[in-house]
Amino acid sequence: MATADHSHGPDSALEQRVAALLARMTLAEKIGQMNQVNAGEGVSVESLREGIRAGRIGAVLNAVDPESVDALQRVAVEESRLGIPLLVGRDVIHGYRVVLPIPLGQAATFNADIVRQGARIAALEAAAAGINWTFAPMIDIARDPRWGRIAESLGEDPYLASRLGAAMVEGFQGEDLAAPGAVAACAKHFAGYGAAESGRDYATTNIPENELRNVYLPPFRAAVDAGVATLMTSFSDVNGVPATANAFLLRQVLRQEWGYRGFVVSDWSSIQQLAVHGLTAGDTDSACEAAIAGVDMDMASGVYAAQLEGLVDSGRVGIEVIDAAVASILRVKFRLGLFDQQPGRATRVPAVAIDERLRIAKQAALQSVVLLKNEAGILPLSKANTQSIAVIGPLADEPYEQLGTWIFDGDRSLSVTGLQGLRDLVGGAVEIRYARGMETSRSRSTAGFYEALEAARTSDAVILFLGEESILSGEAHCRADIGLPGEQARLVQVIRQAGTPVIAVIMAGRPLTLTNVIDDFDAVLFAWHPGTMGGAAVADLLFGVESPSGKLPVTFPRAVGQIPIYYNQKRGGKPPSPETTVLIDDIPVRAPQTSIGNTSYHLDAGYKPLFPFGHGLSYTTFEYANLRLDRTVLRIGEALTVSVELKNTGRIAADEVAQLYVRDLVGQVTRPVRELKGVQRVRLAPGEAATVAFRLHSDDLAFFGRDNKPIVEPGEFHVWVGGDSEAGLRAAFRLLAAGAAQ
Ligand code: BGC
Repeated sequence: MATADHSHGPDSALEQRVAALLARMTLAEKIGQMNQVNAGEGVSVESLREGIRAGRIGAVLNAVDPESVDALQRVAVEESRLGIPLLVGRDVIHGYRVVLPIPLGQAATFNADIVRQGARIAALEAAAAGINWTFAPMIDIARDPRWGRIAESLGEDPYLASRLGAAMVEGFQGEDLAAPGAVAACAKHFAGYGAAESGRDYATTNIPENELRNVYLPPFRAAVDAGVATLMTSFSDVNGVPATANAFLLRQVLRQEWGYRGFVVSDWSSIQQLAVHGLTAGDTDSACEAAIAGVDMDMASGVYAAQLEGLVDSGRVGIEVIDAAVASILRVKFRLGLFDQQPGRATRVPAVAIDERLRIAKQAALQSVVLLKNEAGILPLSKANTQSIAVIGPLADEPYEQLGTWIFDGDRSLSVTGLQGLRDLVGGAVEIRYARGMETSRSRSTAGFYEALEAARTSDAVILFLGEESILSGEAHCRADIGLPGEQARLVQVIRQAGTPVIAVIMAGRPLTLTNVIDDFDAVLFAWHPGTMGGAAVADLLFGVESPSGKLPVTFPRAVGQIPIYYNQKRGGKPPSPETTVLIDDIPVRAPQTSIGNTSYHLDAGYKPLFPFGHGLSYTTFEYANLRLDRTVLRIGEALTVSVELKNTGRIAADEVAQLYVRDLVGQVTRPVRELKGVQRVRLAPGEAATVAFRLHSDDLAFFGRDNKPIVEPGEFHVWVGGDSEAGLRAAFRLLAAGAAQ
């Protein structure tokens, strides 16, 4: 396991400034710093002026009009007794004006560089409006596609979410948090939020400590190690103690074990909700529980502002709890350079030309789209052989819907839709017949089907833009059935009657169960909600300007009943295999019951997903060969190199994401069947081959054992390298104790 990071540890000059300021503050001013209030729509600067001037408000959220932000900041700096600047928070989740693919789509790039660049342009745009704090990255491990917030997540895998979450932190915060254009990041939602029962937002989570540590916490540890300035608690109940009052998470793990020195903010009103959970009898106890557990700032409930003074007076909350919280908050304000640069910081943010921002958004979209299926190489289309295309579907020309969830400030007028992208790219050469088919993704009406069928009949290819509107995923937007909504499956059947090849472009905030329609498509591009430049990217992919290279950051189930289904599952004592799987129609009538030889699967779905984690096709073919380890025996403390020959055996230059998986065959707690341990995006010309090498250190093999402490255990390991989590090319090595003889 990584050791505590010292890069953002105590800095004596900073600590002196924090201590000096803290020493001048009254209790009321201290509690003010712990109070974040809503300054969004309908809340005027005037209504907040008195509270800020009196030092009773230390942070706001949702103020986005640069003039109001500046006015609020001036009140804090120029009119309050101590002149402490405000933190100005906003959900800048996947872009500000220019919108990148939803985080789940960004995860499909498997590319930390593009994710970092995306966060950087979002930060620059937001900072120019006076925002200095974003509530991102969201790094909740999500194994349940019913959960609407899977869209905001980086998927199901701890390694990938750790890498990409850290890249987002780096992009938002830059190298120097004090530089204009940097915004403080916020890793959320600590912790376990994604494990909501039945994928229903805000529902209870029950996560054994071992699983919490091995699966849900690593991305947060990575964010802390990347220097994330703040963390947000989860709304949910974690093993009986809601995260917002969970001292195990907030004190023991975060501060004591990880040495975190930033601050922790509650989620919106989650302190007040402690009473709704039934953990406390009311606001006084809620404030007490949250403060003692280590929540430094109250987002929006006003409970700290109303209760903490009395709690300190009565001795229930020690002044040292308040002082530590305020010091953590002030530390972030100092690190951001707010005391040295406010007001006016926003005007010094370096400008990035819109073309450059759009270029990065397009690049991210291009790499995020996953080619799920491409029968008979129907894609890419060629301008030369395609006289006409029918562009059909409720999401073909929807500048807003392609942006996805959490895009409060997104500028939909910049959106290039699929229809527009195709017109721009091939409109001069290919006739484009557009028929919407359905009003929205949820429509029940079939009134537009006939027109769509006519367009399909008379064209060389159909491009069917299906999926989910933005509002069907995101916070509180969970679904029990994750198939194509409305009458889309019927639209597919109708279009199929035309006999024209059908290429589906699916935009959605989550994996969908496509089992009932997949056979009707000749090709499928899964585009998530691809953001501002989504349509331009999709057009390039359809016509082969670029090859798809996205890979699934989450498993696609065949049926909802398989959920949770994820690649890094435990093996169990009766693992399934093709030989032992007898599906419902193959069971002999009146077959006698026996448990002998039975294995773990569903009679009506088998055990395989529709598409596995890491899956994603290309217009070219890649061959993996000659998997080698530079040594097959390793001691604890040492590293080995895993290398493979990767060759582009097709006729198109393309990127491939090579993935390294490991299995620890025997452990004191059972280990997953595979775990991702390395990722490399490689570009190869036709016929070109390259050696792809991964370094694997024994620390990378650590896990939390029976006592929930990190351990690296000697033993046998398997290694796979390939293009998805079912890759078959395997090698093995043995890990020995440090100093052991071979
Ligand atoms: C969400 C957070 C978000 C906050 C502020 C909450 O409802 O759970 O993720 O940052 O609102 O908008």
